[in-house]
Amino acid sequence: MRVIVELNREAVGRRAAQFVADLVRREPTCVLGLATGGTVLGMYAELVRLHREEGLDFSRVVSFNLDEYVGLGPSHPQSYRFFMQQHVFDHINIDVRNTHVPDGRALDFEAHSEQYEKMIKEEGGIDLQVLGIGTDGHIAFNEPGSSLGSRTRLKTLTEETVRDNARFFGSMEDVPQLAVTMGVGTILESRRCLLLACGDAKAKAVRNTVEGPVTAQVTASALQLHREVVAIVDEDAGRLLERRDYYRQVEQAQTLLRSGRAPQIAADR
Ligand code: F6R
Repeated sequence: MRVIVELNREAVGRRAAQFVADLVRREPTCVLGLATGGTVLGMYAELVRLHREEGLDFSRVVSFNLDEYVGLGPSHPQSYRFFMQQHVFDHINIDVRNTHVPDGRALDFEAHSEQYEKMIKEEGGIDLQVLGIGTDGHIAFNEPGSSLGSRTRLKTLTEETVRDNARFFGSMEDVPQLAVTMGVGTILESRRCLLLACGDAKAKAVRNTVEGPVTAQVTASALQLHREVVAIVDEDAGRLLERRDYYRQVEQAQTLLRSGRAPQIAADR
């Protein structure tokens, strides 16, 4: 896993947006896997800026979001569809018909989940999956104990996640207990993953994910099995990483590679 430690939240957002923008420029018909939450806001703001000021073109991009709360429809201000429209889709030139968020009000979640997986396959799979991480080490809503081979399905949120997300709802009672979420297996099938983490509260989860054992108790640790993951964290979220100095050294070597002063080889995954 490549680990990039940035100074602060803003720098994480800009760096993450660069990765997404590079892909969109290189492959204008790419399929993006998208996340919601506080961490990704900076990245979305930068992507909107790149669209407005530099004409970054999303017209042929397809997107699939990771998850949605059960019971919330698209017009509910806390639903993830609403979040995506509010922060991203309404401000760029993506065709809304090419954007997919699981339906929190599906009548048959099993059928809906299967259909979601099928749609991802029909689009040729996800080229770049953007991920945040929960304080309990979850990716999407794959809470501790989720099968590392899991597919899109319903998942019960842990008390920790409900507490963490209560800040968006006002009270813990208002946070839905269930979500429909891509599985760890679904995420591992994407071609590249970008894991973002900011703030002190994520430090332990980041340490366990990057340097701990691969375990279903920290579902993000399954990313160690993926061949192309870049984790971008800020100083606070990266503060417990034991090999920070090495990660910096790798980044310096990457800079050299990019500047053409070192042989062009695929390195340091
Ligand atoms: C959201 C999602 C979650 C969040 C995670 C971190 O679509 O899949 O895994 O990425 O809970 O949330 P924030 O960024 O709000 O701390």
